[in-house]
Amino acid sequence: MAAVALVRGVPASFAECVAATPPDPPLSQEVAAEQHARYVAALEQGGYDVVAVPADDDRPDSSFIEDTAVVIGARVLATRPGHPSRRDEVAPVAGALGGRYPVHRVRAPAMIDGGDFLKMGSSVFVGRSDRTNDEGVSAVAAIAEPQGLSVTSVPVGRVLHLKSGLSALDDSTLLWHPNACDRSVFDGFDIVEVPGVDPEAANVLRLADGRILVAEHHQETASLVAARGFGVVTVDVSEFARADGGLTCLSIRIR
Ligand code: GLY
Repeated sequence: MAAVALVRGVPASFAECVAATPPDPPLSQEVAAEQHARYVAALEQGGYDVVAVPADDDRPDSSFIEDTAVVIGARVLATRPGHPSRRDEVAPVAGALGGRYPVHRVRAPAMIDGGDFLKMGSSVFVGRSDRTNDEGVSAVAAIAEPQGLSVTSVPVGRVLHLKSGLSALDDSTLLWHPNACDRSVFDGFDIVEVPGVDPEAANVLRLADGRILVAEHHQETASLVAARGFGVVTVDVSEFARADGGLTCLSIRIR
């Protein structure tokens, strides 16, 4: 089966995105839309068939589609995002995935954002963050464990989501920033530590062809990943970074 990536275009209301610190100058929808088009092209050049869910101008954060659904083996969990303003983003994404997979829904009081979900081989890690609670972790486990996947709940450190400070280079190698979580969670994995003050520098995306997509403003990460023998592609997603979003936030990848 071809690798597929779901994306969602940048809404007219993008400047109203949830952000820990109000962006100054304000976010630009035009700049974000240009960057998004190049991001989509990078996914396509990296081997993904891209499926676009229609943009929703009334949902400022809806380009951060990863938070709305997680693919767990042969099933999909439509999430219940931790930030109330983001909950109406879910239904169209669940609808787009529903033609391919059985879709399960997260029920209140559970909350989970896809940015807190990481799968490496048969191991699933779920960040316990401000956006994902214990009931959300249990919702993942209820789908993952019957499929033979192990599930580990990970207390998240000083980042928004678990993957705001780490990501997988392959099924055994992790790019990790110390702000993300305790390193010992990943004992047994090959850990590449990302230096510096910005944990988002550890958020990269595995392309379908095995190369690694790195944010253009994290050149040190690009060098670190290349030194490990991975092919590296860079793309400018700086406008999304100002809205607390990383590379992985902008797509749902199905490999
Ligand atoms: N702006 C992305 C988020 O806070 O979910």
